[in-house]
Amino acid sequence: MRMIVTGANGFAGREVVLAALRRGHDVLAIGGSKAAVVPDLRRSITMDLRDIAAVQSLMLEEFPQAVINCAALATIDGCDREPEKAEALNVDLPRRLAQLSFHVGAKCIHLSTDMVFDGEAGRYGNTAAPAPLHLYGRTKAAGEVEVLKYGREHAAVIRTTLLNGNSGTGDRGLHERLFKDWAAGKQTPLFTDEIRQPVSLSNLADAAVELCERPNLSGVYHWAGLEPLSRFEMGVKVAEHFGLDPEKLIRAAQRSDVPQLGPRPRDLSLQLHPLAGKLRTPAQPFADQLNELRIPRGTETWYEQATGRKVVRLLEKGIDF
Ligand SMILES: NC(=O)c1ccc[n+]([C@@H]2O[C@H](COP(=O)([O-])OP(=O)(O)OC[C@H]3O[C@@H](n4cnc5c(N)ncnc54)[C@H](OP(=O)(O)O)[C@@H]3O)[C@@H](O)[C@H]2O)c1
Repeated sequence: MRMIVTGANGFAGREVVLAALRRGHDVLAIGGSKAAVVPDLRRSITMDLRDIAAVQSLMLEEFPQAVINCAALATIDGCDREPEKAEALNVDLPRRLAQLSFHVGAKCIHLSTDMVFDGEAGRYGNTAAPAPLHLYGRTKAAGEVEVLKYGREHAAVIRTTLLNGNSGTGDRGLHERLFKDWAAGKQTPLFTDEIRQPVSLSNLADAAVELCERPNLSGVYHWAGLEPLSRFEMGVKVAEHFGLDPEKLIRAAQRSDVPQLGPRPRDLSLQLHPLAGKLRTPAQPFADQLNELRIPRGTETWYEQATGRKVVRLLEKGIDF
């Protein structure tokens, strides 16, 4: 399948490119500030996706069979700092990609977020009404509406959640942020009363690409791991997996301990039905997700000293050279 992947340099996008190549697709990877470098990727370009005319030309020239949109302004702070950019990337871009996909007959998969919910109820089904607490969630919720408006049969939104995986920069993944603290000698306070349902990056990428391959699946779907966990439980499991002592590295905290917490959803657990029953890609338990994690870059020496274990790192194209 001829496939365009946007945000190909990002945390999720790079893994989506890898999954698409692994599954035999012909990928054009679109980076923003720099082109994605991924093993076996032959076509990788950069462009400003806010340039709607350029996006239109690209879609007409490339005539893709599928588009997976991983480009976004994907942080709460980033959206608050640059609201116009948030609107352009999280609302206007998905609208235009869905419209153009509809015109060229391509499947359009758009990544969205559990942050469209307020976290009061938890166990959100895919028909639950969004109630975002901040601009990031509001723009992502608006982007979903636009995608579905312009191509119900051709378009699918995947709402996903905390990403568990290895980033090129070594500081984006759930375990990477913990390691950064620990290697700096900090004990990490983690909430026992804030619930998320982390997903493995590679598993999410497989689910997104499989969704392109399945013409009969469209609409809004949820994709995450199998277990809702508190942030504290995640931290303990990560430490134990790597042979580290959670009691030394993690401190249990409650949301009420932080007076200026701001608008943070409490429980963003998701129901994976109906997608989990339809995809061949299985949703993963947290233990399986941990098996894919590597010691983050820059923390190897600390880790070797803390555990006595030797870290062996294979060099990766696009990251190390
Ligand atoms: N990270 C999470 O934990 C998480 C959780 C739930 C949902 N999601 C969703 O997953 C999606 C991807 O998130 P992510 O964490 O992978 O984000 P990310 O790492 O920030 O990647 C977003 C990418 O968008 C590209 N981009 C930004 N502005 C652009 C522009 N003007 N033109 C072209 N490209 C541009 C950036 O490219 P350059 O870097 O090359 O500039 C960046 O690589 C988002 O829709 C997000 O809402 C993420």
